[in-house]
Amino acid sequence: MTKISQTGYSIQEALSELIDNSIDARREGHKPVVKVDISEDSVVIADNGIGMSEEQTSNSIRLGFSNKKGQLGEFGLGMKTSTSFLGQAFTLITTQENSDEQYILQYDEDEWMKHGDWYKFPLVVERGVESSKSGTIILVSRLKVDFSQKMLESIQEEFGLRFGPFIQNGELDLIFNGKPCEANKPNILDDERHEFEFKIDKVHAHGWWGYQLSGLNKSYYGFHTFRRGRLVTVFDKIGLTPNQDIKQIVGELHIDGIPITHDKKGFIKESDEYKALENEMRQYFKPYERKPKRILSGYAASAGRVRGTVKVIRTLSQHTDIQKSLENVKRGDIVVTEMTRPQYLLAIRRAAGIITDLGGNLCHAAIVSREFNIPCVVGTQNATSILEDGKKVILDGNEGYIYED
Ligand SMILES: Nc1ncnc2c1ncn2[C@@H]1O[C@H](COP(=O)(O)OP(=O)(O)OP(=O)(O)O)[C@@H](O)[C@H]1O
Ligand SMILES: [Mg+2]
Repeated sequence: MTKISQTGYSIQEALSELIDNSIDARREGHKPVVKVDISEDSVVIADNGIGMSEEQTSNSIRLGFSNKKGQLGEFGLGMKTSTSFLGQAFTLITTQENSDEQYILQYDEDEWMKHGDWYKFPLVVERGVESSKSGTIILVSRLKVDFSQKMLESIQEEFGLRFGPFIQNGELDLIFNGKPCEANKPNILDDERHEFEFKIDKVHAHGWWGYQLSGLNKSYYGFHTFRRGRLVTVFDKIGLTPNQDIKQIVGELHIDGIPITHDKKGFIKESDEYKALENEMRQYFKPYERKPKRILSGYAASAGRVRGTVKVIRTLSQHTDIQKSLENVKRGDIVVTEMTRPQYLLAIRRAAGIITDLGGNLCHAAIVSREFNIPCVVGTQNATSILEDGKKVILDGNEGYIYED
């Protein structure tokens, strides 16, 4: 017998399966509230959804049994695989609206292994429950996974990403260890979002993209893809060629009509639907695919890549009004100067990056940019003479190059 707990889940993915079920069970006219509480010895997921009938409760632990259509769930596996990934036992407590009955089912992996899939776990019925209340609680115990502080923080963040569209649209309150999860908002250049939409036969895809302000890792670009509001892949490169990495395209892509894999971690790439969408995306992004031309190089003083508008500040000339040039620097601009000075600090704070003519790894610009976590290239010799005010450039602080945008 293969163990159903042997799935390639991450903790976040396993928890998401249970949250998916709560979202699927939302009650008409009630905003779904899902509370996830993790302690040393248990994981509890509680919702205010429609609950389950007696029959649904006993069916719910059958492998491959699902009545769902067009919802987040469809395979009849998620609850079993995710709970048994998290712990050896779980208790399910559920109540339907306008019913004073509560159904309690206690699943135990050891029992199940002993008896096999046909084993029916006894279901306890309790009466006298307040009939206006409904919902389902899943309590996982005898945990198989450890939760470090770091893991707990990453769960909070990943929930914001995974369920972002639901949270953003006011369609879900997701509360993790007492703290509401906030939708993850990518930081994009000028907040400029380009919306797009494709309809090809049954496939409907829509979303937006923008240039992210900076990215420290080459592969952190592309789309977060969603299906019915639920995250499927992150930094998906569908329709993007490797050329794009310098430009740091990020965005959201909502896809309907392409089948997904059983672990819900990806779309089936061999499907005609996937290929059709990929093709459309490739056509759409072609105009943005020109390879940027390298125009300058220097020392990579602070990592990250940004695209922005040049603002030249001439430090060494007596004829220009430095104060005015400093005020001219807007959020997301790239400061170009012979060398930075302490009085530049406020302008640098708004800037997305710094390029200097002079200096090395320990010059003022290098230190300040690392402090502010913005990319910086120093010692280019002639940035102030080559780059004019208003020019669009890509500053690559990882390699020490400046590209024409
Ligand atoms: N929180 C919940 N509220 C109401 N019903 C639930 C809840 N969780 C599970 N169920 C019921 O239990 C069944 C089994 O859940 P499970 O996650 O294993 O399968 P699924 O959601 O149908 O499919 P998938 O494997 O794609 O998740 C669901 O179809 C649903 O009827
Ligand atoms: Mg499910």
